[in-house]
Amino acid sequence: MKIISQIDEFRQYRRVLNRNKIGFVPTMGYLHDGHLSLIDKSLEENQATIVSIFVNPTQFGPGEDLDRYPRDFPQDRQILEARSVDCILFPDSDQMYGANYATFIEVKKLGTVLCGKTRQTHFKGVTTVVLKLLNLVQPTTAYFGQKDAQQAIIIKRMVADLNLDLEIKVLPIIRDDDGLALSSRNRYLSDQERQAAVLLHTALSTAQNRIGEGREDSSALKKVIKKILKQNRLIKTDYIEIVSLDHLEPLDKVDPENTLVAAAIRVGGIRLIDNFILGEI
Ligand code: PAF
Repeated sequence: MKIISQIDEFRQYRRVLNRNKIGFVPTMGYLHDGHLSLIDKSLEENQATIVSIFVNPTQFGPGEDLDRYPRDFPQDRQILEARSVDCILFPDSDQMYGANYATFIEVKKLGTVLCGKTRQTHFKGVTTVVLKLLNLVQPTTAYFGQKDAQQAIIIKRMVADLNLDLEIKVLPIIRDDDGLALSSRNRYLSDQERQAAVLLHTALSTAQNRIGEGREDSSALKKVIKKILKQNRLIKTDYIEIVSLDHLEPLDKVDPENTLVAAAIRVGGIRLIDNFILGEI
């Protein structure tokens, strides 16, 4: 397995990587089973798999947890080595954003709703770094997790709008036994906070069951979610939204083929997101 942190060296590696199908999994490291589900899919579907590990500063706003974001390269490296990933691209900020860096890519509208309401520059940072990474790696397929559904929808839009020649695959959310969606940030939850955090999944799956029973009114469904989140005073709800999957526009009624039900909460200092979808991203 190659580990490359210099962009020039990576370009050289990529130039001679003569494979028809190259899978790419961009990550910020501190790998968990959610990442591994993407990596395993890429290993299964491609002749080479490249994983990037880069905690991207431009997607963190002022006061967010850039400095605290968990990092453990030796452990990530061991995990990826055991899986026979072909290459880890592991650049530092100076490599990715040099002294006179000035270029950003922004997907209008989709990045201003849901998480974008409170994290106003977040998706601009995500799309910028993902486009840079896609330019470097030139994969045939890149893999993203449905937990970050809005991110996946925005990246798909960018790829279509900019005529990028690759496929984006979005794979299901991976959960712990208690239902909590896996996230690198979960490690910061105390036992008490974790008990609260689990209610996010309980609330969303209750709403999903209601839909299964024929309820389709968005405001009633949001009330169901809100009521469950209110059961624990450690939870501060950021948003509960029911929107179309393609345009992220609010829906009065769920559409069985085009709906994202998403919520974000804060528990202690930790921001957690989760969702379910009707249809396909
Ligand atoms: O989902 C993530 O971990 C990040 O947003 C990504 C896609 C690696 C870009 O930094």
